[in-house]
This record gives sequence, C-alpha cells and structure tokens, in this order.
Amino acid sequence: MSEEEEIRAQTLRMLEARSKERGVLIPILQEIQAKFGYLPREAMLEAANFLDMPESEIYSVATFYNQFRFVPPGKHQVKVCLGTACQIKGGKVILDSWERELDISVGETTADREFSLERVACIGCCAMAPVTSVDDRVESKVSPTRVKGILLSCELEKEKDRSEKQPG
Ligand code: FES
Repeated sequence: MSEEEEIRAQTLRMLEARSKERGVLIPILQEIQAKFGYLPREAMLEAANFLDMPESEIYSVATFYNQFRFVPPGKHQVKVCLGTACQIKGGKVILDSWERELDISVGETTADREFSLERVACIGCCAMAPVTSVDDRVESKVSPTRVKGILLSCELEKEKDRSEKQPG
C-alpha cells in the first residue's frame, strides 16, 4: 500500500466513528493533525467526501485557524514565541534569524525534513523572553547568535548519533 493509500485508509477508519454534522469539521481536522502531525491532502479529500463538503471549503476553514499545518513537521520543531513579552524583547528579530538560518518561512519545513518553524503565542515563560522552544526544550533570552548556537548543537548531536550507529 502506498503512503497516500495508507493515509486514506487510516482517515476512513477514523471517520467511521464520527457523525456527519458540519460542526464536527474542526474536531475532525484536529484528529487528523494529531494522527499525522499535519493535514495531508488525501486526508482532507476523505474528510470532504465524508462531510459532503467541497474540498475548497474545508481548506478555507483549515487555513483560517493557525493551529493547522499543511506540510509534514520536521524532526525538530522550532517554535518562536511572539507573545507580548517576547515581542517587546525582540521576538520578531529572533523569528527573522530562524527564517534566515533555516532558509524557510514560518509554517514551513526544511527540505531535509530536519526542522519546521512555527510562531506561537505566550508559552508561559515571559520572564525569560524572548523565548524559543526546540522540541520540548525551552531556550531563554534567545539572541541571533544563540539561534546559530542552537542549530550547531543540533548538528553536533546528529553527528554523534551517526557515529554511534556506525559499526566498529
Ligand atoms: S510572551 Fe513569550 S513566553 Fe510569554
């Protein structure tokens, strides 16, 4: 079974447990994203068929909410806080640094699928602003230099993993 067929089959199984009311669209999209980490096109098509709604309408609802992503997440998820405290302390400059260093825009994933970049609202660590979380780790008082340092340490970890996996 191809990856696309697998996504369709898993989505269908998920939808079987649902009613067909329109009000269930958001919970369905949330469930799809929880399962796949994003909203794959094949899953959106199945949801459109199931709810008897045009695919374009489903996309227009999904794009209205910034909780949904349309590309697969990277291995490392970078989330830059742009809540009020972080904005005051230069959060936008930090977001620009991430975009520049990763060579992607917010909402995208790098071509090698190593990193995806998102902006988030306050994550509750305002005293440490500006804040970026990388996977489960919160990085405090981030500067453009620190962005480079975080990326370097991810690269070093990757190298270490690679050499540990090599035989001999
Ligand atoms: S505003 Fe960024 S952690 Fe609160």
